[in-house]
Amino acid sequence: MSVPDATHGVDFKIREATTADLGAIMLHRRRMYEDMGYKDQSALKAMELTSRSFIKDGLEDGTYRGWLVEISGRIVAGGGLMIVRQPSSPRDPSSRRSWIMNMYTDPEYRGRGLATSIIETIIIWCRENEFHWVSLRASDAGRHLYESLGFKPTNEMRLMLK
Ligand SMILES: CC(C)(COP(=O)(O)OP(=O)(O)OC[C@H]1O[C@@H](n2cnc3c(N)ncnc32)[C@H](O)[C@@H]1OP(=O)(O)O)[C@@H](O)C(=O)NCCC(=O)NCCS
Repeated sequence: MSVPDATHGVDFKIREATTADLGAIMLHRRRMYEDMGYKDQSALKAMELTSRSFIKDGLEDGTYRGWLVEISGRIVAGGGLMIVRQPSSPRDPSSRRSWIMNMYTDPEYRGRGLATSIIETIIIWCRENEFHWVSLRASDAGRHLYESLGFKPTNEMRLMLK
């Protein structure tokens, strides 16, 4: 999909990620956490080690889908969607849920609508694939963007055990 960027005159292309893009996705994931304030290098390294094979397997079996933005052939932003099995509920008779993750835009390309275009692409994909809703956990940097696209807080609660 080729989308003309109306604000900065830059043509960018959004494409679906393949297993060959695992490195770019992992770089986005690592930088996303760093930009969110995670500084513990050993925790970041452990996260990379464990989530790399998870995302690789997901790209192969379709439970992880990624979208990447390219400008002049260079990957400058990306985002992904994880599809998980979950029992149905009265509001959603399907047995699967979709989670957006790994949203990241290179700092020099921020504020040009790239993440917005990725989320819009993911929403279209989720609608076409008949998901009842799509969820995410918002960082402070992303919250307003998600709200502007219609995402609302839910009633999820959490008890920390570690
Ligand atoms: C959050 C993040 C992915 C947003 O990426 P981005 O490509 O800059 O996002 P967009 O350009 O689509 O939107 C960012 C802002 O630019 C504005 N914008 C969108 N299109 C625009 C355009 N064409 N011209 C000018 N501004 C625009 C948006 O309204 C948005 O404003 P807001 O911050 O007040 O909501 C990016 O800041 C990032 O990588 N942050 C670090 C990692 C992170 O927090 N990831 C999210 C985890 S949930």
